[in-house]
Amino acid sequence: SRGTGAAVQLNADALNYWLQEALEVHDGASKGKYTIGLGQDCMAFCSEVEDVISMSLTVVKSLLEKYHIDPKLIGRLEVGSETVIDKSKSIKTWLMQIFEESGNTDIEGVDSSNACYGGTAALLNCVNWVESRCWDGRYGLVVCTDSAVYAEGPARPTGGAAAIAMLIGPNAPISFESKYRASHMAHVYDFYKPDLASEYPVVDGKLSQTCYLMALDSCYRQYCAKYEKLVGEQFSISDADYCVFHSPYNKLVQKSFARLYFNDFMRNCSSVDNDAKEKLQPFANLTSEESYQSRDLEKGSQQLAKHLYDIKVQPSTLLPKQIGNMYTASLYAALASVIYNKHASLSGQRIVMFSYGSGLTSTMFSFKLNEGQHPFSLTNIASVLDVTAKLESRHVTSPEKFIDTLKLMEHRYGAKDFETSKDISLLPPGTFYLTKVDSMYRRFYEKK
Ligand code: ACO
Repeated sequence: SRGTGAAVQLNADALNYWLQEALEVHDGASKGKYTIGLGQDCMAFCSEVEDVISMSLTVVKSLLEKYHIDPKLIGRLEVGSETVIDKSKSIKTWLMQIFEESGNTDIEGVDSSNACYGGTAALLNCVNWVESRCWDGRYGLVVCTDSAVYAEGPARPTGGAAAIAMLIGPNAPISFESKYRASHMAHVYDFYKPDLASEYPVVDGKLSQTCYLMALDSCYRQYCAKYEKLVGEQFSISDADYCVFHSPYNKLVQKSFARLYFNDFMRNCSSVDNDAKEKLQPFANLTSEESYQSRDLEKGSQQLAKHLYDIKVQPSTLLPKQIGNMYTASLYAALASVIYNKHASLSGQRIVMFSYGSGLTSTMFSFKLNEGQHPFSLTNIASVLDVTAKLESRHVTSPEKFIDTLKLMEHRYGAKDFETSKDISLLPPGTFYLTKVDSMYRRFYEKK
């Protein structure tokens, strides 16, 4: 396959964060609700000098510099985001500033949006371009960028913010298994943003969880069927070295893996041992609707799958647990976590990915990995990601400060004619930041 994801650059700087424990106290939630109940450790948010455009400028510039890529070598640039800054002008056009400087304006692609799925749509577009007859030999670049903020209430601790940039080209170490893609798309109102004057979504949290798990089941069934047709053997989670899920909060990822395990049980796969088969037998005759509602099945399958979760899923959870839901960037931050944690042993292995965007759109697909060649070797990608240092360089803040920032951002959302504080003391060098929005709503950014 020629269409491959080559390099990943992460901006986990976003840049302030708080501890979920502190938010539990602030919100008067019971101890452990956000840390154990949702499974989250920290949550990042954009300060008033950052937004989805500044974060994406930072990751694109950083990727080009760290892999020594001439901006003229980019032939397609796609952005996935659900954070609306402008209803017409794409985020991609702001990023063109970086390429115009080098004289390259011949770059296809615009933004894709459908909740957390836009990044995957952008990625598939870019990979399809590299695999198509239109490909001119240059790289594709995919950017996922979002700031996830919720109105006061139970969804608020499931926010987050980050941007990810991925380089797409031939002979890459992270290679698409294009034949086994499976999607599930449907019309539901689980999470949507109908109020154009507000950044906050309307969300039916419980429905969104069920929709997510139904979409996962449907994609997995079809993924397995496609694999089995082409390879002639049954597919089970034993054939996936890692499973990487869109991660709104870690508990849903635990439930998702348990759901794949239950699917394998229903298909009588050898990935489920005899003892587990016996314990799951009482649930074998549930209708699928009943199976989503059964707390006993949910808890039981999580326990039975736990030993496999620790091996196949846990390495992907580092960034999502530390940053929170990054919407379009969430799945790819989870992928970056696996690469960072496991790069030395990934060669020859398969990573199964599940992308979900409310509304709803979802796709399961997989990668095969090889060590690759410098600078696009897994070792070098892991070293450029530098996740530990990035996480350690963040600034812990209080829930009160976060809530003050949210109030300011509510006021500024869709506003014109204001200047930011330009307080960049906490930003690492190389970070882009917003300086002002003028009387014509034009936005201005500088680089530290
Ligand atoms: N200690 C340990 N666990 C606790 C505690 C405690 N003190 N208190 C509660 N819990 C557990 C609950 O048992 C539950 O876990 P379980 O599901 O394993 O039983 C968990 O914490 C969450 O508690 P709930 O009361 O069920 O949830 P709540 O009403 O607070 O809302 C929700 C959670 C629905 C996830 C909310 O945060 C939300 O709406 N988020 C946004 C929607 C979302 O992210 N959807 C996911 C897919 S769509 C997308 O990506 C945007």
